Amino acid sequence: MTGGALISPIETARLRLREFALSDLGSMHAYARRHDVTRYLMWGPNDVQASQDQLTTFVEVQSAVPRLVYELALTLKGDERTIGALCLYLDEDEQSAELGFVLHPDFWGQGLVTEASAALATWGVDRLGLRYIWATCDTRNKASVRVLEKIGMVREAVMCGARATPDGLVDQFRYGLMKTPSP
Ligand SMILES: CC(C)(COP(=O)(O)OP(=O)(O)OC[C@H]1O[C@@H](n2cnc3c(N)ncnc32)[C@H](O)[C@@H]1OP(=O)(O)O)[C@@H](O)C(=O)NCCC(=O)NCCS
Repeated sequence: MTGGALISPIETARLRLREFALSDLGSMHAYARRHDVTRYLMWGPNDVQASQDQLTTFVEVQSAVPRLVYELALTLKGDERTIGALCLYLDEDEQSAELGFVLHPDFWGQGLVTEASAALATWGVDRLGLRYIWATCDTRNKASVRVLEKIGMVREAVMCGARATPDGLVDQFRYGLMKTPSP
């Protein structure tokens, strides 16, 4: 069982993943308010109150025991501003987790979320003991599909009409990744 303490930042060559703080509201809302960012997501676009509520939840779950939710702020090294977020939502058995990610469009297409997702998946296996990581994405979300495949995830299913949107039911891919701990 994990939880009760803040995690140490996860670092890659260019990036840091760290716990959110309430002071991240401005930089978090800068991407969460955008329709181009949330088009394929289950939430948003946010008004300020919605971003405030999300951020409050992200901070509250940091102290849960067991901790099943890791919503982490993505920053460039040397700059505290949040440019996006990655998350792991553990399943009840704490052996598997859903991966998610979002990035401000100013930073799209530089391989940043691929770099951060690979690091978070490795961290989840080594630190949380995860054995299986899964993700779903809208079948139209080409960038997300690429990220998932570039980190080695395998398409396991097409879930037809799995998500209700204002435009009707849309199809979702499900991806999965079996991992073993680093040597
Ligand atoms: C998905 C997202 C996080 C990717 O972040 P990113 O840092 O730009 O991703 P990367 O640069 O690591 O990789 C993106 C890949 O998608 C490709 N790509 C981007 N847009 C594409 C498109 N319209 N069609 C095909 N491929 C596309 C890029 O070329 C790149 O692949 P490559 O390395 O083979 O060239 C970002 O686009 C985003 O925040 N989208 C909105 C939120 C979202 O949809 N989140 C995922 C929910 S499941």
